[in-house]
Amino acid sequence: MVEIIKGNIIFTETPDNFEVIENGYIVYEDGIILSVTKLLPEKYSDCKIHDYGNRLIIPGFYDLHVHSGQYSQCGVGMDLPLLQWLKKYTYESEKRCENPSYARRLYEKFSQDLLRYGTLGAVVFSTTSYEGTEILFEEFLRTGIRGYIGMVEMERNAPEFIIKDLDYTMEMIESLINEYNDNRLVKSIITPRFAPTSTKEGLRRLGELAKKYSVPVQSHLDESQEEVEWVRSLYKKDYASVYDEFGLYGDTPTLMAHGVYMTDEEIDLTKDNGVILVHCPDSNINLSSGIMHSKELIEKGVRLGLGTDMAGGHKLFMGEVIVRAIQLSKLLTLQEGMSNKPLTFSEAFYMSTVVGGGFFGKIGKLKSGYELDCLIIDDDQLYREIYSIEDRLSKFIYTGDDRWILDRYVSGKILNV
Ligand code: GUN
Ligand code: FE
Repeated sequence: MVEIIKGNIIFTETPDNFEVIENGYIVYEDGIILSVTKLLPEKYSDCKIHDYGNRLIIPGFYDLHVHSGQYSQCGVGMDLPLLQWLKKYTYESEKRCENPSYARRLYEKFSQDLLRYGTLGAVVFSTTSYEGTEILFEEFLRTGIRGYIGMVEMERNAPEFIIKDLDYTMEMIESLINEYNDNRLVKSIITPRFAPTSTKEGLRRLGELAKKYSVPVQSHLDESQEEVEWVRSLYKKDYASVYDEFGLYGDTPTLMAHGVYMTDEEIDLTKDNGVILVHCPDSNINLSSGIMHSKELIEKGVRLGLGTDMAGGHKLFMGEVIVRAIQLSKLLTLQEGMSNKPLTFSEAFYMSTVVGGGFFGKIGKLKSGYELDCLIIDDDQLYREIYSIEDRLSKFIYTGDDRWILDRYVSGKILNV
């Protein structure tokens, strides 16, 4: 059935600027956009229109890096740097997800909160628990948002209570791939936690599994100085090359979180292999990791998306991450000069909608041929008539929150929160 929504449509066609269609119509059928127009084509004049009036219609947000098992810990332990924070809080939090009733409650809230904040797709690290990961799949499916969910592989350099036998982990990951990979919205992703907690044997087998089933890959890369030195002492090579050696660096679609301390060789490899770096600015600040050279990397041809990295990050709202990415790039410009220019608003918005949505399919723009994933923003603010649609979007991203989101569409369907 053909359906229509009407409102002030705004999205990024390129990172450089916004496309705006004031009082425009989005015509869609079976979740796919047929046309986006200023005037409604005659042939659709009998169709029912959902008129959102003066409200904004914007793409959804896509969080390309987030840890479901850390949700209870969100906002805790923020005085510690990465490796101490993992040891003191994080592994303990994730261990609790072995308990099915604990995991169910946590993941139900996590999935619903993502949706509430307008995140229509998330790429998630679950934990080393198979049962917990199954529950996370179920909760995503119940909520109706898109997901790539990874059961985490860890075999060493972490407490006994969290690591798992490699044969067991491989078997469970393969069974999750088989169970979910025909699912339209929620799928598996190969997830070594980070190079230090894997062995070469583990990485090799994960690479083979990714190739066998054409499954995407995610991990952490070049996040903190201490961690980067640790990887070099363990593997005697740079961090990206460790993953690359085992088919985990772009052989299938690949996301690497952080990329704060990239060598020139790693930058070239990342670009050549089409690996997406996921910038997680809140986390980089909280864990005192460092400042990513976001603009410089983009100018060198690397593709960048955005992530909360919750609980390294402390909020699920991607608007906050967009703002923080821009702010951090400005601090870097102040510190290092114009070789690192600030990110613009449209660039950061593009990262969270078009690059993020692109990982899930033809998603992130409001134009014909794309899936209709969008948010309806009710920005009933003082003197909004003074401002352009683009300014109103800026106001939402900088000062808004979940209360401004009136409706959430995934593939043309309104989801309930
Ligand atoms: N590196 C390895 N594990 C983690 C994690 O859970 N969070 C972050 N931010 N970095 C990591
Ligand atoms: Fe992370």
